[in-house]
This record gives sequence, structure tokens and C-alpha cells, in this order.
Amino acid sequence: MPKTSRRTGSFGESVIRGMTRIASQCDAINLSQGFPDFDPPEPVLRAAERAAREGPHQYAVTWGAPNFRAALARKQSRFMQIPLDADDNIVVTCGSTEAMMVSMMTACNPGDKVIIFSPFYENYAADAILCGAIPIHVELRPPDFSFDPDELRRAFELGTKALVLCNPSNPSGKVFTRDELLFIANLAEEFDAFVLTDEVYEHIVYAPHQHTYFASLPGMFERTFSCSSLSKTFSMTGWRLGYIIASLAVINEARKVHDFLTVGAAAPLQEAAVTALELPDSYYQELQTLYTEKRTLFLRYLDDAGLHYTEPDGAYYVMVDISEFGWKNDTAFCEWMAREIGVAAVPGSSFFHEPVNHLIRLHFAKRSETLKAAGERLLELRNKASKVSANGAP
Ligand SMILES: Cc1ncc(COP(=O)(O)O)c(C=O)c1O
Repeated sequence: MPKTSRRTGSFGESVIRGMTRIASQCDAINLSQGFPDFDPPEPVLRAAERAAREGPHQYAVTWGAPNFRAALARKQSRFMQIPLDADDNIVVTCGSTEAMMVSMMTACNPGDKVIIFSPFYENYAADAILCGAIPIHVELRPPDFSFDPDELRRAFELGTKALVLCNPSNPSGKVFTRDELLFIANLAEEFDAFVLTDEVYEHIVYAPHQHTYFASLPGMFERTFSCSSLSKTFSMTGWRLGYIIASLAVINEARKVHDFLTVGAAAPLQEAAVTALELPDSYYQELQTLYTEKRTLFLRYLDDAGLHYTEPDGAYYVMVDISEFGWKNDTAFCEWMAREIGVAAVPGSSFFHEPVNHLIRLHFAKRSETLKAAGERLLELRNKASKVSANGAP
């Protein structure tokens, strides 16, 4: 029997998907994997019905259907404040997941170093390993998740080829300030590195915080792969529609990688999603209001439950500090919590390169009823977790 590659042996199965399985086994409310339990906007659903009847049903242009790219170029030019050309600056991908993978494969040679802030969305380290790059982790220190400028500079000094920037950030909820981004931009310029951004939460930012597109900073468009998707903005994580926005020189290379990886994103869904991309600006304001209300509702429950957490500035996750309960193993804690409290969370250690195991991540992209039900269950967490810990928790 031949052996499978060393590459696949160097990382495990997704912890988040694993927690989702445990949640369904024990009928827990799943606040681990970050997807909404509500549908995309009604006009988009109607467009999907039309596309199912009328097509297209065959391959789209590999780097994206022309009408999808045109609508996307109009929307992103508006929000990013960069004039984008639908033919020259866009590759449509299967989610931001593929966009990030294609970007890393396009930017890096095997052996190149890639800076990944820690904690990080778990795909990035796997992306780096899959394309033979070496992750260099730079800490975002809890509870406020700021970085040490000297540590970041030292990471660039290693001859780094690219930096991964998840902004707004999963899991920490950090929204990088313009000054922090300018600091990163200066280092990228000085050390001639690419920046691969993952901006899937670009439209989920809580006032007074504001999202700054890295590519919009002076001189940064040429060295940035701006990755994002429709998954979170339009509550359609299953449609698998994402994209890379970059200069023509970069896009020409990225198109080839994308073509050989997946050929293209689903043609009928691109057709239907044009309706989403053409929604007026009021849609984005309503989305902000919706998530602001969800955050307020959920954080109030955490307060009532006496839990300590870092308030997120963007995205829809909150990191809760479980150190007071005295558990040594956050994965054991999350499994116990799913079974005994009936709420599934992700152990924070799966996001950190450093040995951090006192945090768990919950998400609040759920209907109010779901959040209230989860919140009620969490009111018991403190009491029950402390009792288990008094009896010698794992
Ligand atoms: C930071 C981040 N990037 C990418 C993704 C996946 O995005 P997509 O559905 O566009 O592949 C997620 C999903 O949770 C995420 O949190």
C-alpha cells in the first residue's frame, strides 16, 4: 500500500468542523462553525429560482461570468474607493477559501516565509503548508489583540514574501486601525512583500470602528491580493462565491492557478448573485444594524452569565475567557460544554500558534430565538463549570 503525501500528514482535520459534528450528536446549539441560520435576501432567492429554470447551467468563463464581474467591480469600486476593471482586476473563486489558497500559491514559492498573525483563521496555516510555504507567526495579544511593532518588523526581516491579513479578524473580532495598517504597509514596501487580505467580514463592523481596505492605502494596490466573498455579506456560505481583486499583473497569474484548481465557481449561482451585488447601499446599513443588535443581545447574556470576554469590533465572534474555571484543556471544556450546557463553541487553542488554552470562541450569526435559547443555557455555565473543576476538571 503506497503512503499518502507528507504534506497531508502535517496538519489535522478542521477542529471547527469536528465541533459541529459533536454539536449535532448531542443536539447542542451550534455556535462553533460561523454560518447564519437565516437565508439570503428574498430578491436573491427569486433570482436563484430564475437561474435554476433559465440557466446558465454550463461552465462560466473560468475567471468569472462577465455580468458577475461587472456587478462586483461596480460594488467594490464604490466601497474600496479604487477604480476597478471587471476584466483586468478580478478572479471569481469558490469562496474566499479558494481565493486565499490561489493567492498564496500565486505569491509564494516553496520555502518562502509567510507572516500569519496568531490567533488566526485555521485555513491559513494549512494553505501555507499546502503550497510549501513556511508560516511565521506574529502574536496578536489578548485581551485587546494588538501586535508588537518590533516583533512584526523582525518577522519581515527574515526575508518574508507575504503577510496574511484577516481584517475584520476571525476569531478575535479585531478591526485593524488605519495606523496599524499603515505600519504594515510601510513594512511591506520596505521589504518588498505581498499582502494577502481576507476581508470576508468587510461589511460587519461595529460603530465607531471602520473597515479600511488595505489595497486602498497609498501604493498598496500593486502588492495586495484582496480576497473576500459573498458568504457572510449575503448569508450564503453554501453558494461558494468569492473573489480576488488585484492588479492586472497579479490577476493574470492568479487566473491560471484558479483555472487548474477548480475551473470556476458555479455558473447559475453567479447569475443569481448579480442581484445581490446590485442591492442598494441601504442593504449594507441594514446588515450593520442587524449584526449590531445580535451582538448587543448576545453580549448581554454573557454579562448576565458573569462571563469575561473581549468585545468584538467586527465580524461575528466573541472570545470568552474560561481561565477562572480552572480547566487545563479547552477542547475537553468545549466537548463538556456541548454535552452538559447544550451550546457548542470552538476551543481557542485551535486558533493560536502559542500555547493558549484559556479562551473559547462563540459566534452570534444566528436568529434572535437561537441566540436567546443559547444565552439562557449559558447562564448555567459558570456554576456548572466551577463544580466540575472543583472535582478535578481535565
Ligand atoms: C476569516 C474567514 N475567511 C474565510 C472564511 C470562509 O469564507 P468562504 O465561505 O468565502 O470560503 C471564513 C468562514 O468562516 C472566515 O471566517
